[in-house]
Amino acid sequence: MIQALSYIVVETPHLDAWIEQSRHHVGLHVDEVEANHRIRLRADEKFQRFVVTKIDGLATMGMGFEVPDAAELARLRQALESEGYPITQGSKAELSFRGVEDMMFFHDPDGVRIEICYGLADAGTPFVPGRPIGGFRTGDMGLGHVALITEHFDKLSHLYRNIFGFKVSDHTFAPFRVEFLHCNPRHHTIGIAHTGGPAKIYHLMLEYNDFDDVGRAYDMALTNPDSIGVTLGRHINDHVTSFYLKNPDGWMFELGWASRTVGPDWEAEELEGMSLWGHDRTWLPDDKREEARQILKRLAQKGVRAPVVTTTQTATTKAQL
Ligand SMILES: [Fe+2]
Repeated sequence: MIQALSYIVVETPHLDAWIEQSRHHVGLHVDEVEANHRIRLRADEKFQRFVVTKIDGLATMGMGFEVPDAAELARLRQALESEGYPITQGSKAELSFRGVEDMMFFHDPDGVRIEICYGLADAGTPFVPGRPIGGFRTGDMGLGHVALITEHFDKLSHLYRNIFGFKVSDHTFAPFRVEFLHCNPRHHTIGIAHTGGPAKIYHLMLEYNDFDDVGRAYDMALTNPDSIGVTLGRHINDHVTSFYLKNPDGWMFELGWASRTVGPDWEAEELEGMSLWGHDRTWLPDDKREEARQILKRLAQKGVRAPVVTTTQTATTKAQL
C-alpha cells in the first residue's frame, strides 16, 4: 500500500522563476545541485521534497509516492504490471538525485509520471526556510495533497483505490465529478476531477504550521494580483484555510493551514460545495463563478460552520490517545 505523497518531480523551462518563488514566496529551502540545471527543494528534514530539472520543452509535473519497503515495492510492481502498466526501474542517477533506496516509475492514463519509492533519506543538514516561517506540516501525513483534472476518471479512481489502496474521504457529482482520497491521516492526498476539460495538474497543497505564514504569503501575492488563482477561503471538506498561487509552470500551489485529519472510522460523505467561504476561482468563466457564489450564499444562509483544529491541537490529541 502507498503510505504518503513523498515528493514532486518537476521538469521546467523556468528554473530561475522556480528558485525565486520557492525560496522567497513559498519559503522552501533551495539546494542548487547543478548550476542552471538541477535543484532540490526541501520542506522539512528530508533530503528533498521536490526534484526540479531545467528542460527546453513543455513543463511536466510528476509525483513520488512512498511504500514501507522493498517487498511492498515488488508487490505493487506485480499488481501494476498485471493491470497493463509498463514499469521502468529508476536509474542509479535518478535514485541518487532523489535520495531514495529504490524507485520505479510509470505513467498514469493521463500521462502523469508516477514514481513509487522507499527509503527517502534525511538530509545531513538542518532545514533552512527561504523566508522566516514556522515550517511545513509533513511527517506521517506526507508532503501535502495533489488535485488532478483527468480525462480517465474511472481508470484513475481504480488505480488509486484498488491498486494503491487509497480510501474515499468524500465526493461530489456537481458541478462535476470529484473524488477525494486518503492513504494516511491527511484528509486527502489526491483529488481527482472530471470537468470535461483536458487533463492537467490543478494544484499541490502545502500546509504551513502557522497561520501567519499563509497571511504573509497572501500579502506578497497581493502585490501581483494576477498571481492569485483562487482567493483566500476555507475548504468545506479538509477545513484548510488557503489561497492558490500560480507557479511558473501554470499549475498552482495551494498554501494552507489547519487541515483536519481522518482515521479508520471515517465515513465518506457527499459534499454540498467546495468551500465554506472565499476561494473565488479567478480563472473560471463568469457563469461558473456566479454558480460558485450562489453555493457560498446557500451555505452562509444555512449557517454551515466548522471548528478550527490547529496543528498543535492535533498533535496534542494524538499524544493523548
Ligand atoms: Fe486542495
